[in-house]
Amino acid sequence: MIFGIVSQKGGVGKTTLAQNLGAELSAVGKRVLLIDFDPLGNLSVGWGVNPDQLEKTVIHALNQPKKGAGAVICLRPKIDLLPANDTLTEVGSNKLKKMVADMSAAYDVILIDSPPSCNLLTQSVIDTADRLLVPLQVHPFAYRASDRMVKLIDKKSTGKRPKPVGIILTMVDQRNSLTKAIEHSARERFGNDVLKVRIPRNVQIAEAPLNGLPVGEYEPTSKGAKAFRALAKEINKIYL
Ligand SMILES: Nc1ncnc2c1ncn2[C@@H]1O[C@H](COP(=O)(O)OP(=O)(O)O)[C@@H](O)[C@H]1O
Ligand SMILES: [Mg+2]
Repeated sequence: MIFGIVSQKGGVGKTTLAQNLGAELSAVGKRVLLIDFDPLGNLSVGWGVNPDQLEKTVIHALNQPKKGAGAVICLRPKIDLLPANDTLTEVGSNKLKKMVADMSAAYDVILIDSPPSCNLLTQSVIDTADRLLVPLQVHPFAYRASDRMVKLIDKKSTGKRPKPVGIILTMVDQRNSLTKAIEHSARERFGNDVLKVRIPRNVQIAEAPLNGLPVGEYEPTSKGAKAFRALAKEINKIYL
């Protein structure tokens, strides 16, 4: 199963979702490949990898699908990373599709992180994925941005979505009185596409990648770690 993590807006939690969902899916036994498809390389950095020092990154794998496997970094027994840096320039869907097809036999799950804009890279991720995961920050402005993203995903075909979508409510702040209302309107607008598990706003989630770790390793008993563990279980059950 190939998941593309997309959202037009930056800072909504895409990279955080890629890192932690990947870590927790591997913890339930899945063989996971994380593809960093953002030239900023945040997903790579979050695992303690400095992508600027690497000779081979995702762009090599895109240009030479078979030999490009030399760019893959083994992070943990069941998680590999294809890192990115600013050598990743605009690539069309066909290259990404071919690369993913060549690599997919070795994995149960491929998670592709994407940049925070609707450029060709994001479009390639949308075209390549079996399912799109859209983090929806439970905040009025972010909510509008995600709404636009879903419309963009819908745009290409008439009425019918080209790709199924899973929406993950994130940075949920229980103390904010608007939270309930936004969650309610998201569930009303997107129905069953919204997953049950929500990711809280949690400081350990933000600290973990600064230490090169997923939150489940950094602070296993934190609310954030528990939420990602529950999310991986839900995703494993309903999509895998
Ligand atoms: N649930 C959360 N609680 C607290 N901080 C978070 C949470 N999710 C993400 N963050 C932090 O917010 C910032 C943006 O998240 P990130 O995943 O990089 O977004 P994106 O990839 O969409 O740009 C990062 O510093 C990250 O650590
Ligand atoms: Mg990111």
